[in-house]
Amino acid sequence: MLLEAPSVRIPGRAAVDRAKIELERRLGPSKVLTSTDACAPYASDDSDVGGRPPDVVVIAASAGDVAATLAIADACEVPVTPRAGGTGRTGGAVPVAGGIVLATHALARIKEIDRANLVAVVEPGVITAVLHEAVEREGLFYAPDPSSLDTCCIGGNVAENAGGPRAFKYGVTRDWVLGLEACLVGGRVVRTGKRTVKGVTGYDVTALLVGSEGTLGVFTEVTLRLVPKPPTVATALALFSDVRAAAGAVEDIVAAGIVPRCLEMLDASTLDAVRSAGVSIDPRAGAMLLVEVDGEGAEAVLERLGGVAAERPGCIDVVVAQDATQRDRLWAARRMLSRATRKLARHKLSEDIVVPRTRIVELLDRADDIGAATGVRHLAYGHAGDGNLHVNFLWNDDAERPAVDRAIEMLMRATVELGGTLSGEHGIGVSKAKYLRLEQSDDLIALQRDIKRAFDPKDLLNPGKIFPAEGSDGRHRSC
Ligand code: LAC
Ligand code: ZN
Repeated sequence: MLLEAPSVRIPGRAAVDRAKIELERRLGPSKVLTSTDACAPYASDDSDVGGRPPDVVVIAASAGDVAATLAIADACEVPVTPRAGGTGRTGGAVPVAGGIVLATHALARIKEIDRANLVAVVEPGVITAVLHEAVEREGLFYAPDPSSLDTCCIGGNVAENAGGPRAFKYGVTRDWVLGLEACLVGGRVVRTGKRTVKGVTGYDVTALLVGSEGTLGVFTEVTLRLVPKPPTVATALALFSDVRAAAGAVEDIVAAGIVPRCLEMLDASTLDAVRSAGVSIDPRAGAMLLVEVDGEGAEAVLERLGGVAAERPGCIDVVVAQDATQRDRLWAARRMLSRATRKLARHKLSEDIVVPRTRIVELLDRADDIGAATGVRHLAYGHAGDGNLHVNFLWNDDAERPAVDRAIEMLMRATVELGGTLSGEHGIGVSKAKYLRLEQSDDLIALQRDIKRAFDPKDLLNPGKIFPAEGSDGRHRSC
């Protein structure tokens, strides 16, 4: 059941035909897909957002192809939706206006790994796990680890400012991007940022472009910060009677001054999904923390962490992973959660709200109240150390959808009331645009629309994303 696309300006047939002819002329037909069948896979991403099939798909093979596409889009006034791995969760890569999809997955070179300066320079189509392996072979480390790391691309990670379990210690993608080469609508290319540790020249345009969800520019090169690979990693599971006890332990661990790299929490329903996927977990457990510590002395820190968790009333057991195979199995189970929970009902929507971590228990209470008020089933798991929880709503019958929408809005309101934010890592995209005003003032939204207009005055680049639909925030012109 797809989420309705926002109403955006659809390009006219003549403009699209002109763009197709010009793209084929400039790029050659092998990089330009126009048949319905060839374009169909580029109509959706890993969200429930319904789009329009693109009229044409460009498979860019160079930065020049990206620039040429954005010049032609501008000249013909045809919208462009950038796309890397297509694994986004909020519709960022869905072409809601049809037009051109500009795919950068084939720009997949790791151009440089500079050990002395701890920098990597990569193209946007590099798969995140491939980058991990390449830098780790050199004794280096790139921390951001979204669950889709085997299929998602650095370009998409940068566009959405992706997070992941290791964000607790190491931060999100933005904390690792030093500089960008980005192509703007019209074909201008800008290089932002630096490749040095320090650098404060001008506005931080790099930070602005990271997380801009494909609305400001299309990345053709990304300069990333690296760190030395942590010499030791130690992983454990802490099992609890219920999720409130587990959330309490998260607070205890942080209060004890311990900084694990990951502090993940799974509630009872999520644990059931993991069990049904064949992972054996103590049947008494109604919640679990998956924790990981790295660096010198990791085992000793993990032991101290286990002691803190064990003291929390409701802790059933703390089990330390014995070797890399056990650790890999635990993380494989964690990474497949999104897919495993999808099997629990015909429909599932996953939010990625964040609250201050001291308010997780209140958030869980509010989620239960919302479930009771709307009759919509839910479960929660996620990056509890960051206060970033994936609250998932599950339903079978299409007739339940209005209740689900009510539940989502109530959850968004509760999140903001608790001092939180609508999205910790998946972005606003289409899915959450209508809730943006719950968190941000009209003036702040207007300022961002002005920035968008400075980059893209005709609103051709990824229209329909982030901002509420035209007319829904009456005071301002929409871009
Ligand atoms: C995860 C994705 C859904 O944490 O963000 O599994
Ligand atoms: Zn997540």
